[in-house]
Amino acid sequence: MRRFEGRTALITGAAHGIGRAIATRLGGEGAQVAVLDIDADGVQQAAAELANEGVDSLAIHCDVTQRASVEAAFAAAIERFDKLDVLVNNVGVARDVPFEETDEEEWARQVEPTLGGAVRCLQTALPHLLQTKGTVVNIGSVNGITAFGNEAYSAAKAGLHNLTENLAMRYARRGIRVNAVAPGTVRTPVWARRLAENPAIFDDVVRHYPLGRVGEPEDIAAAVAFLASADASWITGVVLRVDGGVLAGHTGFLQDVFQSGHET
Ligand SMILES: NC(=O)c1ccc[n+]([C@@H]2O[C@H](COP(=O)([O-])OP(=O)(O)OC[C@H]3O[C@@H](n4cnc5c(N)ncnc54)[C@H](O)[C@@H]3O)[C@@H](O)[C@H]2O)c1
Repeated sequence: MRRFEGRTALITGAAHGIGRAIATRLGGEGAQVAVLDIDADGVQQAAAELANEGVDSLAIHCDVTQRASVEAAFAAAIERFDKLDVLVNNVGVARDVPFEETDEEEWARQVEPTLGGAVRCLQTALPHLLQTKGTVVNIGSVNGITAFGNEAYSAAKAGLHNLTENLAMRYARRGIRVNAVAPGTVRTPVWARRLAENPAIFDDVVRHYPLGRVGEPEDIAAAVAFLASADASWITGVVLRVDGGVLAGHTGFLQDVFQSGHET
């Protein structure tokens, strides 16, 4: 499938993990890809790897918490590729700080990149997306749907889900589709610290996942590519759970009541 031939995508937080996989997927389907990240070396390396994979790519060093940095980033992408068809807001920052210890600075440390960053990128991208009748995919989280801890991060993701719906309504008649993907547990560098503390963490959480495994970045990239493609041309305002079934029901409840899993 080469659904993005002749189209240009900008992906935030694309040096590592899910963003990096989205860049490979969209690029592999023919998109020209601008990869943006606060990690200057990481994003250069990502762009170099994409180029090796035959993808026309541009590395952009940017901090999405800073409006001037975001404006310069989009100017660089437009200068290089002339237009923007797909925006993927993928930056998210979660920190394991108890709620009672979350002062205003700590709250902002998580909410600013996760929700404020997406707002800045959306506002900067909009004039370009209006020209191309482009599309947006926001990376939300199951944390934005129900309680999985990390209050500041989760509240920001819930806000991003709502923003997805509101902007879908606001811009539908002007040709822009806005959707979100809400991943469950995905094996990325974001888990490195918890993995160091508990090397079995993915084995421990897998019992909550009906499909019997945690997610891989490619699982999320495939859903993003679908929503950004013409295959989803009658879909806007959805928050698509890509979560191995974790939110489909209560595994523990089914186990307690029926003494077996969900197959009964
Ligand atoms: N991994 C999971 O289990 C999981 C689950 C649900 C949702 N998500 C969401 O998926 C997205 C990607 O997560 P990931 O696991 O690949 O994380 P990651 O930490 O591996 O990647 C996030 C990227 O964002 C970049 N970044 C951070 N702050 C930035 C800033 N201010 N400006 C620009 N770039 C910045 C980082 O350098 C990094 O490359 C996030 O929004 C995350 O919340 C992840």
